[in-house]
Amino acid sequence: MTENTAQTLVDAVPLAAILVARDERVTVANARAVALLGDHVIGRHYAAALRQPEILDAIENCGRALTPGKARYLARSGGSDATYVVHCGWVECGDFSGVLVSFEDISELESAGQMRRDFVANVSHELRTPLTALMGFIETLQGPARNDPDAQDRFLATMQAEAQRMERLVRDLLALSRVEAQERQRPAAPVDLAALARSVLHGLGPVAAQSNVTLETRMPDGAVTVPGDEEQLRQLLTNLVENAIKYGGAGGTVTLGLSLSEREAALRGPGVLLSVTDTGPGIDPLHIPRLTERFYRVDSHRSRQVGGTGLGLAIVKHIVNRHRGRLRIDSTPGKGSTFTVILPADG
Ligand SMILES: Nc1ncnc2c1ncn2[C@@H]1O[C@H](COP(=O)(O)OP(=O)(O)O)[C@@H](O)[C@H]1O
Ligand SMILES: [Mg+2]
Repeated sequence: MTENTAQTLVDAVPLAAILVARDERVTVANARAVALLGDHVIGRHYAAALRQPEILDAIENCGRALTPGKARYLARSGGSDATYVVHCGWVECGDFSGVLVSFEDISELESAGQMRRDFVANVSHELRTPLTALMGFIETLQGPARNDPDAQDRFLATMQAEAQRMERLVRDLLALSRVEAQERQRPAAPVDLAALARSVLHGLGPVAAQSNVTLETRMPDGAVTVPGDEEQLRQLLTNLVENAIKYGGAGGTVTLGLSLSEREAALRGPGVLLSVTDTGPGIDPLHIPRLTERFYRVDSHRSRQVGGTGLGLAIVKHIVNRHRGRLRIDSTPGKGSTFTVILPADG
């Protein structure tokens, strides 16, 4: 195999790939390998070019035993870490023999794995807190408070609140997994958003009254129909309005707006804009990009106080995705926030 044929062969590999010849030098690298390792690797000894012991061992073993091998390789690219699985295979072709080394980028897989581990750790932590409280109260009821009816009443009320917190968490987790499972399948049944919005506001009336919050609407008179999943859109509206009431603060106003747009740039077509605006303290721009992450809260203490699970906006985001829409969050600290959902108006 001439160097030219070797180059053609390596260029055809859909991964970053290099050939290490019998003299232990990198003789050929494809464009992806040059981007990953730099063009100075060509002609160098592989140990100088690659440096990480695990990959050097794999290449050496493959060259000696002529059997394939695997190793992990960590690289920094564009300021972030990338993880590769490196495959080594022995190649013999004409008068050329050596090791073909190819780099498979598994960074996305790794970060999905990390997210899953974080999620499980977060869920366990969120469940353990109320559970620990419940167990403490049970012990007290069995021991010191055994004959104290007043204390029993107080403890039972707190236990109920803790159990309700666990129930909300489990309910939100189930809702999240359900929407996630259906995300690929776009809902198509016609849903009247105006009627749905009125019904949600009616349902949340008592919550608003309790917090001394005024609910207002800015909607056209007739129906505003989009293809959708009614139950999920009800949940989306409930989560947004509930947040606006709870974080907007007592004495404020929450406005639900609904309008049609003939051409919505973000959707490249007609859209319906659904907005929930509050007159609360607003959100620091620093937090906005992270609000839809699971369990992300600006102020965990405040969120717990108002019965939050930290999953409300993550659920909203998934519902919006399932409807092929967009979620926009605008806020001016000190003035309030607006959460806008843009949904495609056509099927
Ligand atoms: N209208 C709002 N005004 C100010 N902060 C908000 C508003 N809506 C949401 N947030 C912030 O975003 C966080 C995440 O919201 P969410 O996912 O609904 O979780 P939860 O309400 O259960 O804490 C909240 O904890 C809160 O800090
Ligand atoms: Mg919430």
